Amino acid sequence: MTDSITIALSKGRILDETLPLLKEAGIELVDDVKKSRKLVFPTTDPSVRILVLRATDVPTYVQYGGADLGVTGKDVLMEHGGEGLYEPLDLNISRCRLMTAGLKGQPTPPGRIRVATKFVNLARRYYAAQGRQADIIKLYGAMELAPILNLADEIVDIVDTGNTLKANGLEARELIEHISSRLVVNRTSMKMKHQGLNPIIEKMAAAVEKRKQS
Ligand code: ATP
Ligand code: PRP
Repeated sequence: MTDSITIALSKGRILDETLPLLKEAGIELVDDVKKSRKLVFPTTDPSVRILVLRATDVPTYVQYGGADLGVTGKDVLMEHGGEGLYEPLDLNISRCRLMTAGLKGQPTPPGRIRVATKFVNLARRYYAAQGRQADIIKLYGAMELAPILNLADEIVDIVDTGNTLKANGLEARELIEHISSRLVVNRTSMKMKHQGLNPIIEKMAAAVEKRKQS
């Protein structure tokens, strides 16, 4: 009997880039995900269903076995910590950089600083590894506002074109990590559902390679 497989996808920009890769792996959604209020979607493969979640919830669902496979950003995985997950494939989509940033022309003051971010665990580890003392302030969005309103000396955030920083009078400072979306697998599923999961992982890897060549 074929094992049923649940795949957790991140909604938003990652979803748009993941669906074509899944299609090349032979898995297509039956419904129009943008028009539906469903959270669980059947696919053209009767043994595969798809969950559409917030990116930050994907590692949690996969870690606890709510989903066997997941797709989310490396930034989200670094913040989560990766417990209970394998990360077998870099999908090379939703590429951006995780950076520190601050007000343009105003160097970060010496000594203890305040850092605003939604990536609190990651930021704490980063500043500690640099030997710098930092009080981390949790925000859920619009991090760029924090230095402007003197809430923080620096932010840790995603940078792609740099337009958001520029539009708010900020400048990027240090590169923490190059980011792209990753395929993650529940550790137990990898052992127990090996037969069902392996072909999906291999076909997605082939789709990623094919894109790199073109
Ligand atoms: P939510 O809306 O659920 O709080 P979010 O705003 O982080 O999440 P997205 O903006 O879709 O959701 O970002 C999801 C992921 O896409 C990020 O974790 C990161 O890996 C990547 N990403 C974010 N911003 C960009 C960008 N400007 N360019 C490319 N990739 C990005
Ligand atoms: C992301 C991120 C930055 C911006 C960076 O926000 O949080 O604010 O992109 O991209 P840029 O360097 O090309 O300007 P997004 O557009 O996803 O909005 P969000 O704040 O709702 O996540």
